[in-house]
Amino acid sequence: MQRHIVVLTGAGISAESGLSTFRDNGGLWEQHSVYDVATPEAFARNQELVLRFYNERRRQLATAQPNRAHRLLAELEQSHRVTIVTQNVDDLHERGGSSRVVHLHGELTKARSSFNPELIYDIGYRDIQLGEQCECGQQLRPHIVWFGEEVPMLQAAADIVRTADDLLIVGTSLQVYPAAGLIHEVERDVPITVIDPGEAPGVSRARVIRKGAGEGVAEWIANFLAR
Ligand code: APR
Repeated sequence: MQRHIVVLTGAGISAESGLSTFRDNGGLWEQHSVYDVATPEAFARNQELVLRFYNERRRQLATAQPNRAHRLLAELEQSHRVTIVTQNVDDLHERGGSSRVVHLHGELTKARSSFNPELIYDIGYRDIQLGEQCECGQQLRPHIVWFGEEVPMLQAAADIVRTADDLLIVGTSLQVYPAAGLIHEVERDVPITVIDPGEAPGVSRARVIRKGAGEGVAEWIANFLAR
């Protein structure tokens, strides 16, 4: 039976594609207040500011490319069962070739009705305009999970992590719940590896590869395949 590799990723895996992380120096939350651009209250208060924040990130994503880490994880699917559980809203895992990707915090390339969350539209990298409406006449919003909102994919992600034979954590500070709590869903004997060049998040029994995502994932895969 093939080992099931589950990879929990965060903004750090997309850093080498030129996309800002949130909490590193110069990160997105240093340039913007979460409460101005990433909460339902922010959207109720100033739809234009929130739409502009995500339009800028979508335009930047249009010019970003998957990096070595995204591509290596996709290639691993040729010999193993790999599921990506990502906090990222970019589409770089998919563009890198991964076929099983669960987005915990939504997707930049989708918009949805600000009234009915079931009405979701693929918009690629284009802007969402103020005044652009869903079929029920309500303003379109980014298909992003804002702070304080439910995480619809959480149960699906927890079920996936529970079936992991190996858990790889790449490029996340594990500071945001409930996503960060997923690491407690793995069975006790499942090896956990953290790949992060910075102060690795506190995962007690994890092995740490203190390197950037590209180099770190390459090293992990080499060790894994040599087992
Ligand atoms: N390779 C790997 N990891 C890196 C790299 C790199 N080149 N550069 C930075 N990192 C690490 C940082 O050391 C840090 O631990 O990536 C992590 C990024 O952490 P955050 O900026 O907090 O991003 P993330 O953990 O994904 O944030 C989680 O917070 O704001 C919300 O919804 C947002 O999904 C996001 C969530």
